[in-house]
Amino acid sequence: MDRSPSNSVAFLLLLFLHGCAHYAHANPVHPMIDSIFSFGNSYADTGNFIKLAAPFLPVIPFNNLPYGETFFGHPTGRASDGRLVLDFTAKQFGLPFVPPYLGDVQNFTRGANFAVIGATALDLAFYQMNNITSVPPLNSSLSVQLDWFHKLKPTLCSTTQGCKDYFGKSLFFMGEFGGNDYVYLLAAGKTVDEIMPYVPKVIKAISAGVEVPNGCIPILLTIYASPNATDYDASTGCLRRLNEFTRYHNSALFAAVLVLRQKYPSVAIVFADYYEPVINFLRNPERFGFSRSSKLRVCCGGGGPYNYNVTAACGLPGATACTNPAAAINWDGIHLTEAAYARIADGWLRGPYALPPILAAVRT
Ligand SMILES: *[C@@H]1O[C@H](CO)[C@@H](O)[C@H](O)[C@H]1NC(C)=O
Ligand SMILES: *[C@@H]1O[C@H](CO)[C@@H](O)[C@H](O)[C@H]1NC(C)=O
Ligand SMILES: *[C@@H]1O[C@H](CO)[C@@H](O)[C@H](O)[C@H]1NC(C)=O
Ligand SMILES: *[C@@H]1O[C@H](CO)[C@@H](O)[C@H](O)[C@H]1NC(C)=O
Ligand SMILES: *[C@@H]1O[C@H](CO)[C@@H](O)[C@H](O)[C@H]1NC(C)=O
Repeated sequence: MDRSPSNSVAFLLLLFLHGCAHYAHANPVHPMIDSIFSFGNSYADTGNFIKLAAPFLPVIPFNNLPYGETFFGHPTGRASDGRLVLDFTAKQFGLPFVPPYLGDVQNFTRGANFAVIGATALDLAFYQMNNITSVPPLNSSLSVQLDWFHKLKPTLCSTTQGCKDYFGKSLFFMGEFGGNDYVYLLAAGKTVDEIMPYVPKVIKAISAGVEVPNGCIPILLTIYASPNATDYDASTGCLRRLNEFTRYHNSALFAAVLVLRQKYPSVAIVFADYYEPVINFLRNPERFGFSRSSKLRVCCGGGGPYNYNVTAACGLPGATACTNPAAAINWDGIHLTEAAYARIADGWLRGPYALPPILAAVRT
């Protein structure tokens, strides 16, 4: 389970803005967003997986330090040393941390987080029917998360107009989804060429989410290491074939977003990107405040060329965290550090890593 990398990432933010006149008077510092709802995987989970998996897994690395060491001082179920992009976004809008749906806090007036570490776009049943057994048997896919949301909805608003007003001031994070689907398919022994045909299916399930560059994820760099230097991009050190595949997924997704915009003109749909910022951090780490030596080197790990060791993964015995996570990009081989998430959040709120930037979208 510690190997279930939610390594891709992309984002689609759906902002339900029905009462536009209303926003003209909104405070420009804290635009009128009263609640945030989030769906996704480990890039957004703030505590659902540790509840969902507790009955099945004796050891959950995310429950152990150094997870959470930088900001909370203790593990929270977030797959990082501190806050995620979702946390920085909530802060920007003056909202509390978005509570995990399966967590102890059960007041969801100001939003709920349905994201689960390891979640897939396609249902578990689809994989089981196709004899793909690399998918952990947890029910946490996109459709499961949407069911949770539909169950919660009647407690948030009741009348048609009431719901329109309430969700008109809500920000929806849809994604990242898709990364885990591809990782499980690769783990099942399929090649990149063999998983290409799954892309339209995954895109259809999500219509959302720009992937993180898979070829730059230390766990995949370790598993799919190649003796052939031409397999690597010279400027970033990432695996070219996996990144080509990620770009293919992301462009299919962007096309789907354009269609959604036409279909739902009253909804501001933001296409937010993990791919570009991560590539930029790797090309020029110092410019973003990261150390040159960190690059593809994992901060919290247990040895090996990328400091990623599957038998001594972060949160397990044998792994230790680097002394300065603030100068590192990758936290545990799959997920990013709080420092990286903070810069990505800024790029999503103000540009250039979201189209349009979230703050511009909520003021429109
Ligand atoms: C839930 O939180 C909202 C706002 O944060 C508050 O107004 C409301 O009273 C709370 N509801 C309960 C049942 O505690
Ligand atoms: C899955 O495996 C079962 C049993 O081995 C087999 O009968 C079935 O045809 C397989 N299904 C697919 C889609 O390969
Ligand atoms: C997952 O959920 C589906 C639909 O709710 C259910 O039929 C199935 O038994 C569940 N599977 C597991 C492994 O919990
Ligand atoms: C390395 O990969 C390139 C391009 O795929 C190929 O042309 C070359 O023969 C490979 N070299 C070795 C040593 O395998
Ligand atoms: C990976 O971790 C195991 C267990 O702690 C250790 O025995 C092994 O030497 C490590 N491998 C590397 C390459 O550091």
